[in-house]
Amino acid sequence: MKVVAALIALLFVCFANCDEQTASPARLLIEKKILNKYLVEGRDIVVHYNIYNVGESAAVNVQISDDSLPSEHFDIVNGLNKFTIARLAPATNITHTVVYRPKAGVWGRFNFTAAQVNYLRKEDSTEVQRGQTSEPGEGYIVSLKEFDRRFSPHVLDWIAFSVMTLPSLVIPFLLWFRSKSKYEAIIASKPLKKH
Ligand SMILES: *[C@@H]1O[C@H](CO)[C@@H](O)[C@H](O)[C@H]1NC(C)=O
Ligand SMILES: *[C@@H]1O[C@H](CO)[C@@H](O)[C@H](O)[C@H]1NC(C)=O
Repeated sequence: MKVVAALIALLFVCFANCDEQTASPARLLIEKKILNKYLVEGRDIVVHYNIYNVGESAAVNVQISDDSLPSEHFDIVNGLNKFTIARLAPATNITHTVVYRPKAGVWGRFNFTAAQVNYLRKEDSTEVQRGQTSEPGEGYIVSLKEFDRRFSPHVLDWIAFSVMTLPSLVIPFLLWFRSKSKYEAIIASKPLKKH
């Protein structure tokens, strides 16, 4: 009896402990994304980070540092390009957003590269894991002048166009509608006369 109890006790100890030991260390997948449809000189660029811990342990002291948008060319309007997450539990996500704005005169091709990441893969680890976020890749920042020329006036042109064409569409429709109703009235009246 005593032996069985001891075995069971051992099993329990193992369950509690062995599980801890076999849990895989934290592993972070970090997606860096640009949320804009258009990149325009002097207009906000929204950079979004999704930090996902796919490991079985918590990631500790997660430090993300993004130097890929140099302050020489970009202002930070909102958020921090260097930030720390004290602890990220397994199977959990954290998102972070930074809003940049290309300075006046900054336009053309730009390669949006990865941010650097450091973290500990276990609570008591001393070894720093280094990694990178994903790379959004190359984009084209349109000059404000080009953007205005391509978009704003065209919208106005289009509105003016539709206002001017409205009468020419509405009048034929009214004529057609009137003759259609007249015709339908004739059809409707026919069976009545047959009686
Ligand atoms: C975390 O992010 C990943 C990747 O975008 C996604 O597939 C997953 O569903 C997210 N999980 C949670 C718990 O939000
Ligand atoms: C952008 O930068 C990355 C990393 O430096 C590089 O691998 C990639 O080839 C670059 N892309 C272009 C289009 O230059």
